[in-house]
Amino acid sequence: MAKKRLVSGMRTTGSLHLGHLEGTLKNWVALQEEYDCFFFAAVWHAFTDRLKIDDLPSVIKEIIVDWLSVGIDPEKSVIFRQSAMYQHAELCTILSNMTPLGWLERCPTFKDQVRDDDNRSSVSLGKLMYPVLMTSDIAVYKGEMVPVGRDQLPHLELSREIIRRFNSQFGEILKEPEAKLSSVPLLLGIDNRKMSKSYDNGIYLRETPETLKKKIQMMVTDPQRVRRNDPGDPEVCTVYAYHKIYTPDRLDEIAQGCRTASIGCRDCKMILFERINAMLEPFREKRAQIESKSGYIEDVLHAGEKRAHEVAEKTMHEIRKAMGFLF
Ligand code: TRP
Ligand code: SF4
Repeated sequence: MAKKRLVSGMRTTGSLHLGHLEGTLKNWVALQEEYDCFFFAAVWHAFTDRLKIDDLPSVIKEIIVDWLSVGIDPEKSVIFRQSAMYQHAELCTILSNMTPLGWLERCPTFKDQVRDDDNRSSVSLGKLMYPVLMTSDIAVYKGEMVPVGRDQLPHLELSREIIRRFNSQFGEILKEPEAKLSSVPLLLGIDNRKMSKSYDNGIYLRETPETLKKKIQMMVTDPQRVRRNDPGDPEVCTVYAYHKIYTPDRLDEIAQGCRTASIGCRDCKMILFERINAMLEPFREKRAQIESKSGYIEDVLHAGEKRAHEVAEKTMHEIRKAMGFLF
């Protein structure tokens, strides 16, 4: 039986951190076996947040290298840039006409933005259209499965409704995609706030052992545990939240050691450092290997974009025909 088609994108907003790895990439790597996967760099979507992205070509290349270094495999998956696929934009223009303005204005991500900005002139049409472009990204490949985080569920619900409208008007051409939620807990930054570039609190895939050690040493712990002999509460500690993911086999020992002050925060952090460092090491090796082959990323993208182009053109041809653009 043919594999189901799966489509997902990641915005090109900068270096990838452990949140991307645990929340998205590990999931993508596993899904490659079971689905016909299309993974793309959502370059246009990145501009809905800010217009100035320093050295975008390098940002895109870095992201693709990072994907490959953790195990996204160009032999198994189609890897490409949204910005190389004009069919997404063509379909977006078409679908924008079957999307009631009210649906977009009620979308939670958009509503939050408008509420935060007293200055409405900074809210762009692109931001409002975000879900329509996202729908096009998926529909142009007739994507059936879309792995997303919980925050993206309202977008996907909109996608299904837009696609339903299209199909009822022009025939059953597109597929209603299903969301595939990843079950990974949210990783917070080293200061226990949301992991974000603007807080400078992330742990990146490209950390060296030295920078990684520094960041882990800076992580906030239980604020009540001031002296080495003070007992701590692991449940309020950022380090422990990371241990839940990276040291599941020694959790009880660590929690117990913290509560009885038999281990110090420094030792506790060293255990975590060793674990994360050991996880990153093979990624570093793979990255060095990829980066030593000049033109490799260009080749991967070229092949992916050629394949994506074939599939997208086929869908667009059906649509152009159904809508009467061809004669
Ligand atoms: N909005 C998604 C995010 O921020 C990125 C994205 C763009 C996407 N187009 C997509 C994800 C299509 C899945 C399918 O995470
Ligand atoms: Fe956190 Fe570990 Fe220190 Fe306990 S011992 S407060 S879990 S760093």
